Amino acid sequence: MSTVLVAGGAGYVGSHTVKALAEAAYDVVVYDNLRAGHREAVDRLVAAFPERRITFVQGDILDGTRVRETLETTGASAVLHFAALLSVVGSVHDPFAYYRNNVVGTMTVLEAMAAAGVKHFVFSSTCATFGEPRTPALDESHPQHPINAYGETKLAVERALPHLETATGIRSVALRYFNASGADPDGLIGEDHRPEEHLIPRAIAAARGGEGLAIFGDDYPTHDGTCVRDYVHVCDLAAAHVAALRRLEAGGPSGRFNLGSGTGMTVRQILDAVGRVVGRPVPHTIGPRRAGDPARLVASSGLAARELQWTPRFGLDAIVQTAWAWHTAHPDGYGGAKPVDS
Ligand code: UFG
Repeated sequence: MSTVLVAGGAGYVGSHTVKALAEAAYDVVVYDNLRAGHREAVDRLVAAFPERRITFVQGDILDGTRVRETLETTGASAVLHFAALLSVVGSVHDPFAYYRNNVVGTMTVLEAMAAAGVKHFVFSSTCATFGEPRTPALDESHPQHPINAYGETKLAVERALPHLETATGIRSVALRYFNASGADPDGLIGEDHRPEEHLIPRAIAAARGGEGLAIFGDDYPTHDGTCVRDYVHVCDLAAAHVAALRRLEAGGPSGRFNLGSGTGMTVRQILDAVGRVVGRPVPHTIGPRRAGDPARLVASSGLAARELQWTPRFGLDAIVQTAWAWHTAHPDGYGGAKPVDS
């Protein structure tokens, strides 16, 4: 079975994808600078899959020589690339860092792939490449007009990929996640962002008696006034990466796919779902809107169903239950020193 390099494989979606790859009998090289990722996540995966070769290389995607050497020495046949700065708010404050890491860093990885002769690339993209939705559900034909630097950096890479393919023969699949959430149902790995900005882990922390939760605006044009999002389980996203890799290995063409459940949930519905699982209401206040939040973002994932044979297996209850189980068992996440996301 082939070896693949997972850039950012110590992070949230990356580590869950490493697990899915190991289950699909791939050997994996995790390449991560550990600024936001967790060595502990990799160690757990190594211990859980003694029959697979999962190795760790600490390195930065901006270090093209190291990426190339890692590809050449491991004989990796593909790169799955998760190593990105991911905060919309962070990108507003420090767009330099976002363009440097997410655009220059990704180009550095692709250049190293071209030099090493690696031709398959799976890219973590985002619904933030679309900007303000013009239709109730977003399919791949929806225009892409990002409203923040984070979305722009991801779209810049998406737009570069066809040109790079023409020049180098690197075929790619870009996967545009909607709201990644939940945790490994086996409890091996989970979500640990620092700081944590996402709704479900924040709601769980509030229900556990931690920092209070503010709903960012209740005057949106939605049925209860709070923002509608499409929550998709991280293990379903991981499965989509394996399907994308297999498509490329089978000689399939490059593609771009929107990955969501197709079901919109308001912030209040999420708090209700968390309250049901936890067994008590989530304490919260109503705060002002957060800049850059569209009222509604819901995926239409028909193309992924047709071309990748991908449909989500986990619903909202499973998302909240697996997240709750992870955070209850690991109140300090992976513990240790606190890396800080930008
Ligand atoms: N929210 C709150 N209070 C909080 C945290 C979040 O009300 O404390 C709300 C947000 O306003 C939003 C919803 O909960 O309406 C979900 O927020 P998240 O921060 O969990 O997720 P986002 O929808 O903002 O972010 C996701 C992805 C990003 C992507 C973005 C596109 O995580 O990577 O969608 O807009 F860029």
